[in-house]
Amino acid sequence: MSALLEVRELSVEYPSARGVVKAVDRISFTIGRGEIFGLAGESGCGKSTTAFGICRLLRPPARLAGGSVRLDGVELTALPEDEFDKLRWAKLSIVLQSAMNNLNPVMTIRKQLTDAILAHEPDAASAADARAAELMKLVDLPADRLNSYPHELSGGMRQRVVIAMAMALKPSLVIMDEPTTALDVVVQHGIIRKMMELQRRFGFSILFITHDLPLMLQMCDRIGIMYAGKLVETAPASRILKEPKHPYTQGLLDSFPALSGEKRRLTGIPGHPPDLIRPPAGCRFQPRCRRAMPPCLSVEPALLPDRDGLGKVACHLYGEEEGAREQASAASE
Ligand SMILES: Nc1ncnc2c1ncn2[C@@H]1O[C@H](COP(=O)(O)OP(=O)(O)OP(=O)(O)O)[C@@H](O)[C@H]1O
Ligand SMILES: [Mg+2]
Repeated sequence: MSALLEVRELSVEYPSARGVVKAVDRISFTIGRGEIFGLAGESGCGKSTTAFGICRLLRPPARLAGGSVRLDGVELTALPEDEFDKLRWAKLSIVLQSAMNNLNPVMTIRKQLTDAILAHEPDAASAADARAAELMKLVDLPADRLNSYPHELSGGMRQRVVIAMAMALKPSLVIMDEPTTALDVVVQHGIIRKMMELQRRFGFSILFITHDLPLMLQMCDRIGIMYAGKLVETAPASRILKEPKHPYTQGLLDSFPALSGEKRRLTGIPGHPPDLIRPPAGCRFQPRCRRAMPPCLSVEPALLPDRDGLGKVACHLYGEEEGAREQASAASE
């Protein structure tokens, strides 16, 4: 069966006074039906820009500079605005970091939930109120909170409302960009548990973005690691944890305490990500890479499949597998 989401060669740029910031540079990945796919990487590597590019929330000066995004076979980048509006919420919904960015401050929760339902199902007027109450129950909020305005709720409650809204029309893909980062840890855990429970119940796919790599490793089926606007590795979460291939992925894992097992020294990654207006030649990670070799300075490594086809990595260290990688690449096309 084909993937639910297919992102091919997606590029997003921000023109600026100093030049063009290539925030997302020809990245490709897929998300399967019911799969939870995580995007990780240091601040500024392009995770949110990728998410916004997929769900057409880019606002000027950001511009889509190329590539394709197919959801269930439908090309989203070419869809007229009114056609895309029909898909938003119904097939694709988004949960952002701050619930206030998702909610209208001058409308009650009831009005926002029923409006979202009625925009897609105008005939559901009599049932919309009951559906709104059901959605509140789904995220463990008392139904009387339907009469509240967003500012009358706690941050955790607001984020639960946003998740309820995202679920309202049973979408096939939910994009979550730092959905719990603004909340305290206890509230975060409650919300993550709730999201996972809903995902198991309804089977939607998730594109999950967080700074919290240990959480991502627990939650996601597969993970994509971004560095300076590029996807440098994709693999099942268990493989990223046990056998990270790209030196950047290894460094990222070394920046967090181990999930289990012995305590070890956190080493992190020395240096800073590059300027995205003039990224370094060759591999963008090369100036910070302990294992850089001559080709890394001039030849940009392509993201190519592993020998067993489970993951992909963009790194010259794996050049000796080239023959196998080329074969796997041809077979996967
Ligand atoms: N309006 C803008 N103008 C110019 N550059 C921008 C603009 N918005 C974002 N960028 C740049 O685009 C790059 C990607 O930003 P993005 O917000 O997607 O990163 P991110 O991975 O989501 O980071 P974080 O983890 O901090 O949320 C960054 O280098 C950022 O400086
Ligand atoms: Mg972001």
